[in-house]
Amino acid sequence: VRILVTGGRGQLGRELAARAGEHEIVPIDIDECDITDEAALVLTLDSVRPDAVINAAAWTKVDLAETEEAAAARINADAPALLARHTAARGLPLLQVSTDFVFGDPTVREPLPESATPSPLSAYGRTKLAGEEAVRRLNPRHQVVRTSWLYGQEGPNFVLTMLRLADRGGPIRVVADQWGSPTWTGHLAPALLRLVERGDPGLYHLTGGGATTWHAFAAHALACAGKDVDVVPITTDEYPTPARRPQYSVLANDAWRALGEAPLPDWREGVAAYVAERVPAAGTR
Ligand SMILES: NC(=O)c1ccc[n+]([C@@H]2O[C@H](COP(=O)([O-])OP(=O)(O)OC[C@H]3O[C@@H](n4cnc5c(N)ncnc54)[C@H](OP(=O)(O)O)[C@@H]3O)[C@@H](O)[C@H]2O)c1
Repeated sequence: VRILVTGGRGQLGRELAARAGEHEIVPIDIDECDITDEAALVLTLDSVRPDAVINAAAWTKVDLAETEEAAAARINADAPALLARHTAARGLPLLQVSTDFVFGDPTVREPLPESATPSPLSAYGRTKLAGEEAVRRLNPRHQVVRTSWLYGQEGPNFVLTMLRLADRGGPIRVVADQWGSPTWTGHLAPALLRLVERGDPGLYHLTGGGATTWHAFAAHALACAGKDVDVVPITTDEYPTPARRPQYSVLANDAWRALGEAPLPDWREGVAAYVAERVPAAGTR
């Protein structure tokens, strides 16, 4: 299958290209085609002539979106609408990547099924939710995939930030009262390609297995890298950020399992595999 991947130089875009297998991946990023530019998008679709499109491009600067919501919405909501309209006009399937940050209900403490009602707390979450809705409305051959706490390839991401902070010496203070499921792009990308192959339209939650806090995520990454540094648990209140984040956004991967597909590996395995790839010496410890 010839798959056009937008956001081709992002973490997920690079991983999709690296794990193409028998598929032909055509990665494009903003230099080749700004997906907010309708004419450029149409030209790209008509010259690449893909069988399917994965939209892995996004405004991912969560805190900056609070003051730049209109700019974030152009990339996270308006561009997916354009993609959905122009793929639908060509009869092409579109896989839109979305996020656990569409959720924010503070009373939730159980993994969220696809049927849960979104309630974003941030501008980023609102713009991503609007993107999902546009894709669902405009292209019947859609797959909307919500993932969470993504890291991989060149980053930037949380794991690489922790490794860098450790090299500067500790202690590192990390929030210990927000729960989620870290997801390695190395585990997510093959699953996304599988979904494209299958073609079953719908909404999917797809994340690394298990659940943890940012604090335990950091501690595990540093242990895998053999870095001996203090990781101090703090509360969200002690680490104020412009954007509010969900306290609990673990996603139940029910729709994926209902297809008969194996769940993604546990988050700890993803971290270990990524650290071994980024810090080769760690693998010998
Ligand atoms: N990162 C996470 O923790 C996380 C969690 C859940 C869901 N997601 C979702 O997963 C998907 C992939 O995320 P990621 O972490 O791989 O993101 P990323 O590394 O930030 O990559 C996104 C890519 O899209 C590009 N891009 C931005 N605006 C564009 C435009 N107008 N036209 C074309 N390309 C454009 C970016 O270029 P620039 O770098 O030049 O802007 C970047 O290369 C996104 O949909 C994201 O919302 C991410």
